[in-house]
Amino acid sequence: MGKTLLGIVASPRRLGNCELFIKEIHSNLGAGWELRLMRLPELDIQPCRACYRCLFDSMRCPHEDDFLAALEELCAADAYAVAAPAYLLAANGSLKKFLDRGLQFYAMVDRLWGKPAVGAAVAGIAGMEGITELNVASFIKMTFGDLRGSAVVYGALPGEVLLNPENRQTAAGLARALCDPGSAMKPRGPVCPLCGGDTFRFDADGGIKCMLCSSAGRYGWDEGRLSIEIAAGDHPLFLSRGDVVRHAEWLRGMKDKFLEKKKELKAVVKEHIGTGTWVGKKGQGGA
Ligand SMILES: Cc1cc2nc3c(=O)[nH]c(=O)nc-3n(C[C@H](O)[C@H](O)[C@H](O)COP(=O)(O)O)c2cc1C
Repeated sequence: MGKTLLGIVASPRRLGNCELFIKEIHSNLGAGWELRLMRLPELDIQPCRACYRCLFDSMRCPHEDDFLAALEELCAADAYAVAAPAYLLAANGSLKKFLDRGLQFYAMVDRLWGKPAVGAAVAGIAGMEGITELNVASFIKMTFGDLRGSAVVYGALPGEVLLNPENRQTAAGLARALCDPGSAMKPRGPVCPLCGGDTFRFDADGGIKCMLCSSAGRYGWDEGRLSIEIAAGDHPLFLSRGDVVRHAEWLRGMKDKFLEKKKELKAVVKEHIGTGTWVGKKGQGGA
């Protein structure tokens, strides 16, 4: 039976670089792969209301928008490829808008966990991608995918990304990684020993934190090369399926914590009720 690749396009531009790059990955997969495509900016994805209903009882988000249908496509796919354009040094907001609804993912761990996935950050100016690749990798980790590789590719004009043969090779490499975990792309530099992430926060005292799995450790220099030691913390995101289940339990446990602390919390909230003037909406405020 054939397999399905879900292409998640976080660009509003039709036949733009993100869409074409995903199509290029698909064309390298060989026969037997159907490509289904989702353009995130065109979907009606409402902001999460922080009601936590997706974590309890029916475990279903009360919003009646496109999110659950889109998530069903992700659950049903055999693999997925995510491409986001750099917008002001980060991924286009449609990617985060989808991700912000992600407490719903915990109801679908069995269907989402471990799906092969690759990502691409597409930027118009070389070196100006900011955190776009991290955003794409985080999207894959937070949707419980098996991140087999990610890349930054450059191209500003629609289609320009495929004018560069190196980018076509990158797409072919990502396609290989999707089919075979052994072909995962080689890291370009030091990576987190736990999750493979390559974005870190360093502090002056030798501390280091991986921005992908949130684990922390120490860094040093070994014969002029950066050495990194990182251990899993209390909430590793997500090194195993068990981490996902534990994190979901921790989230559910917050309800009891809230009930325990309700009185204390109410008191501090009361201090600031009514302070300030809400502005920004058309017709709201005096400006
Ligand atoms: C609002 C906006 C912001 C952008 N910001 C950046 C940026 O910060 N860095 C960059 O390299 N390119 C930036 N670009 C260029 C796009 O990332 C680039 O054109 C990319 O190829 C778009 O992908 P698409 O064709 O799939 O839409 C921006 C484009 C737009 C429209």
